[in-house]
Formats: sequence, structure tokens, C-alpha cells
Amino acid sequence: MGERVEIFEVGPRDGLQNEPHPIGVAQKVALVDKLSDAGFGRIEVGSFVSPKWVPQMGESDKVFATIARAPATRYAALVPNMMGYGMAVTARADEIAVFASASEGFSKANVNATIAESLDRFRPILEEARHIDLPVRGYVSCVTDCPYDGAVDPANVARVADQLFAMGCYEISLGDTLGQGTADSVSRMVLAVRDHVPAGRLAGHFHDTNGQALDNVDCALALGVRVFDGAIGGLGGCPFVPGAAGNVATEALNAHLVRLGFETGLDQTALDNAATFAQSLRAPAPVG
Ligand code: HMG
Ligand code: MG
Repeated sequence: MGERVEIFEVGPRDGLQNEPHPIGVAQKVALVDKLSDAGFGRIEVGSFVSPKWVPQMGESDKVFATIARAPATRYAALVPNMMGYGMAVTARADEIAVFASASEGFSKANVNATIAESLDRFRPILEEARHIDLPVRGYVSCVTDCPYDGAVDPANVARVADQLFAMGCYEISLGDTLGQGTADSVSRMVLAVRDHVPAGRLAGHFHDTNGQALDNVDCALALGVRVFDGAIGGLGGCPFVPGAAGNVATEALNAHLVRLGFETGLDQTALDNAATFAQSLRAPAPVG
């Protein structure tokens, strides 16, 4: 049997958050249920952020209340502050994720706070979550490039990752939010982070703006990363990153990892079905 690599499915959150037209609760639930059938250990279902900032995630509570929970799957929610934490707990999220940026420009655009202020907001969340044994994942965004500040120094990524890990995040997901990472910038960044956080606690989160996502996965694999975020159907982008494309498509990522001899535990046929459904939720391309 091949070595285990896990795909963390983020499509219902990172994918759908960027869709400009409203997608109903029933369709979101149907997507999560199809993903549960594919065998994921972890699925990010939605976020409890300001609906003024990200309207598409405004009904995440209803989605959590309606999904059919598979016993072996943990259903995750993204939260920016204590208010979101409370909503995630009420929704019975099995784990939560906090998110910081490695660049000040994106931090301001995404959460209206400096990096330091955003980290300060997370401390009480980690504190409360510890009391109820709720696992907390940490994201670092813009790990190679920022749409506002340009190239990002790997030392800044390492510092933010180190702080999230020290706070108690069990895993740090390294987000190439803009999808501009290259073999060189991704490798330098992972090497810098690995000095602070063990590779076994890292995840790679690659967007596919330049068609480099699978190559960047290979770079991170070579440096010991064994968890990768994917969005079914290649959904996504970020509302605060103009021009960024979707996450690496889960179905393509799974096929790639299996070809390399890794074991993911996912059902490729169920993934392909879920991908077709995910694509059908997208806004039709403008005519003309
Ligand atoms: P703000 O406007 O500075 O803060 O937003 P505020 O505290 O003044 O709140 C404004 C309003 O939002 C208030 O309502 C609050 O009650 C409400 P009002 O009084 O005006 O009626 N509010 C909330 N409502 C629901 N849930 C909450 C919440 N908090 C406040 N949790 C804030 C600051 C952080 C809230 C805002 O900037 C925000 O929600 N940002 C989230 C943006 C977001 O979700 N971005 C996408 C996810 S990150 C990403 O995609 C990257 C990632 O995928 C990795 C990668 O790709 O690299 C993770
Ligand atoms: Mg993302």
C-alpha cells in the first residue's frame, strides 16, 4: 500500500465563497453530501464571517444543520473572530479554522486588520476551543505573493505560521492565495516554515491561476508535506484577490497523487460525480 496523503476538501467554503450569484442552502447541502460519499476525513463546509463581507457564506448555519454527517468525516468551519467562533460551536462544527495573512495588504483587505491584530483576535478563540477539545486549524494566506504588496518574504510566512502553531493550531495550511507560486518560491517558503513547524503539521493550499498548482504540490511533497487542500471542480478564488483562480481541483489532485503511488482513501468516481455537480453550481459564463 502506498504512503498516505490526505486531501482536505475546501470547495464548499473556499470554492463557493467566490461565486457571485446566490447558491441555495439545498444545493450547498447536496454538494457536501456528495463529498461525504467520496470518503473525505475533513470537509470545510462554510464560514462564519460577516455576511456583509462575504454574502455567499451567510447561510452556513443552515448548511451545517442540514448535511448528512458521515461518522468518519469532520465538518469544519472558518471563523475570523469570537463571534464566528460562537456561531461555529452552535452549528456543531467538528473543527474550526482561523486565518491570517503573511502580507499586511491582504490582511487589511480580507479582515480589516493588521496581521498582529488578527492574531490577537485568535488567542481567545484558541483558549476557548481548548476547553471544549475543539481542533483548530490555522491558515496563512499569500505565502508567496500578495495582490497588494507583491512578493512575500518566506521569513514573514514562517513567523505567522510559527505564531499560529504556538497558539495551538494543530495544522498550518499554507495558502498560495493568488496562485502565482513557482517551484522556486514554494520550495523556499516551505523550507523556511519547516524550520518552525514540522512538515507533518503542514498542509499545502494551492490555487491554480497559472496552472502551476500540481507542480507546487509536487514541490511541497518533496519537502515532506502530506496534506493538501483541494476544491472539487476547481471551484473558487477569493473575493479579496482580484484575478485569482480556483483552488487546485480535488478530482485532478486525487488522480495525480494516486498516479504518484500515494494512498488517499478517496473514491475517484464519487469525486468525478461531485465535480460535475460543483461545476453546475457555477454562474453561467456571460454571453457576448
Ligand atoms: P469589520 O467590518 O472590520 O468588523 O469586519 P466589525 O467587527 O466592525 O463588524 C462589522 C459587522 O459584521 C457587524 O455587524 C458585526 O456584527 C458583523 P453590523 O453591526 O454592521 O450589523 N460581524 C459578523 N457577522 C457574522 N459573523 C461574524 C462577524 N463578525 C462581525 N463572525 C471581519 C471584520 C473580520 C468580521 C470581516 O472583515 C470579515 O468577516 N472578513 C472575512 C473575509 C473572508 O471570509 N474572506 C475569505 C476567507 S480567507 C481566504 O479565502 C483565504 C484562505 O482560503 C486561504 C488562502 O486561499 O490562502 C483561507
Ligand atoms: Mg483559498
